[in-house]
Amino acid sequence: MVIEVKQLEAKELVVLGIESSCDETASAVVVNGRYVRSNVISSQVNVHQQFGGVVPEIASRKHIEVIDSVILKALEDAKTDFDGIDLIGVTYGPGLIGSLLVGLSEAKAISYAKGIPFVGVNHIEGHIAANYLGNSDLCPPYVCLVASGGHSHIVLVKDYTEFEVMGKTTDDAAGEAFDKVARVLGLGYPGGPAVDKLAKEGSATIDFPMAFMQKGNYDFSFSGIKTAVINYLKKHPDAPLADVAASFQKAVVDVLAFKLFEAAKDAGIKTIAIAGGVASNSGLRKKVKEMAEEYGVRVYSPPPVFCTDNAAMIAAAAYYRYIGGYVSDLDLNAVANLSL
Ligand code: KG4
Ligand code: ZN
Repeated sequence: MVIEVKQLEAKELVVLGIESSCDETASAVVVNGRYVRSNVISSQVNVHQQFGGVVPEIASRKHIEVIDSVILKALEDAKTDFDGIDLIGVTYGPGLIGSLLVGLSEAKAISYAKGIPFVGVNHIEGHIAANYLGNSDLCPPYVCLVASGGHSHIVLVKDYTEFEVMGKTTDDAAGEAFDKVARVLGLGYPGGPAVDKLAKEGSATIDFPMAFMQKGNYDFSFSGIKTAVINYLKKHPDAPLADVAASFQKAVVDVLAFKLFEAAKDAGIKTIAIAGGVASNSGLRKKVKEMAEEYGVRVYSPPPVFCTDNAAMIAAAAYYRYIGGYVSDLDLNAVANLSL
């Protein structure tokens, strides 16, 4: 629901963020949507590694085990307690339903017990808001690429809570492509950082397909590139894997960057941002910097720790929702397929 929020001018608003949409249990304390006082992330990656991906049922159980201590640590690191918190921001979708429910129920319980208002945050909006952390001069409008394990979106950020999706993937997300290709290359889970590392040792000598490259189309398709990598390895079993990784990464990065800059150009926007786990990719960060000069635009990116899942970005997004007049009710439910 939307209600009028009063008496907010010039006050320092301290937000407790809670994030549990996938396999990271995270909490953070952020002031006025920009200044991170603490950022605690408890990763379940070791638990899921043996299965080659996230097992939803195990993920929810692990969230329950650690969420209390993660939140208390975030408060302790920020040298505060619940009395020092003005607002709770919590991810309510999209994500794994069981995992989302753990964070959301926790937020509601704290909100009810302590009388602190809470705001449900869209996880994708959170990824975008990660750009406000450490970039005190960034403000809308800008065009943001959100590339994570579940999403690849080009978003026109018209205002802090107003978004227009200009393009998105028609099949796999960019991070999903990294994870699948990593498995094919025998690099394990999570694949993105491993491919990024191996790519640095190779040369991008192989041409992998880049889909939908016609102008004016900002949608992505990444399922074909995984098949192309598998077929290439079948034909060339002795191919240096570092070259395959470098070539795959280049193909994905070039498509992401090209579409991002073209979308901004067509929208007449001179500011660009990147977000999501794939935004920590060294190849993408380098490419975007190079293209910024060519296109004459300013580029923002969060530090890598705020690209992958974290709660500071959720707190930042919650701040802007709250000052925009939004608060959530205790009957808010988690929405696994929530769209932006
Ligand atoms: O944003 P995120 O932490 O979780 C989701 O919301 O999905 O993104 C995780 C995704 C995974 O697919 C992971 O492989 C990818 O981001 N990723 C990377 C890198 N670091 C994480 N992909 C490419 N290069 C990286 N350095
Ligand atoms: Zn995410």
